[in-house]
Amino acid sequence: MLELLYKRRSIRKYKSTKVDAATVQSFLKAALLSPSSRGFQPWQFVVVDDSDVLTQLALAKKGASFLKGAALGIVILADPGLSDVWIEDAAIAATILHLTSESLGLGSCWIQIRERQHTESETAEQYVQRILGIPDNLKVASMISIGYPDESKSPHTDGDLRLDKVHNNKF
Ligand SMILES: Cc1cc2nc3c(=O)[nH]c(=O)nc-3n(C[C@H](O)[C@H](O)[C@H](O)COP(=O)(O)O)c2cc1C
Repeated sequence: MLELLYKRRSIRKYKSTKVDAATVQSFLKAALLSPSSRGFQPWQFVVVDDSDVLTQLALAKKGASFLKGAALGIVILADPGLSDVWIEDAAIAATILHLTSESLGLGSCWIQIRERQHTESETAEQYVQRILGIPDNLKVASMISIGYPDESKSPHTDGDLRLDKVHNNKF
C-alpha cells in the first residue's frame, strides 16, 4: 500500500486506448466496497464512456478539460437524505477509485464539482445534473477521470512528507 501511495499521482493526459469491460467492473466493485458511515452507502455512480458525454462533462468547470481525453469518467453522487455525512462518504469512494486506478496501471485525477461554478449563474453541480439527467435529491460531489497514462510523473519521495504537520500526544 505505501509503495502505491508514493507512486500515485494525478494523471491528466491519457492514451486513446479504451478501458475494457472487466476493468470497468473492477472499478465498480472497488467503489461499492467503500466504507460509509453506519454502512448507509448514500452514494450512486454514473459511469461515462461515451466520448460526447465526456466532452460535455469536461466543460463543467475550469480544471476539468482533460476529462475530454479520458477513456472513462466516474461521476460520484450522493443522497444527503440518506446520510448526514454524505460528503465524507463520497470523498472516500472517490479516493478508493483514484487508488484502484493506480493499482490497475491506469492514471486518474479527481475533478471537484461540489462548491464549484460552471458559470456565474450556474454551479458545476447544476451543469452536471443537467447533462446527465440527475434527480434533484442527489448531490454531485466529484468526477474521476480515468485512462491509460500518456504522461509520467515522478513518484512522491520522503522529501515531500510534511512531518511538521504531525504532532505527538499534544498539538
Ligand atoms: C478534493 C480534491 C479536489 C481536486 N480537484 C481537482 C480538480 O478539480 N482538477 C484537477 O485537475 N485536479 C484536482 N485535484 C487533484 C490535485 O490537484 C492533486 O491531487 C494535487 O495537486 C497533488 O498532486 P498529486 O495528486 O499528483 O500528488 C483534486 C484533488 C483533491 C483531493
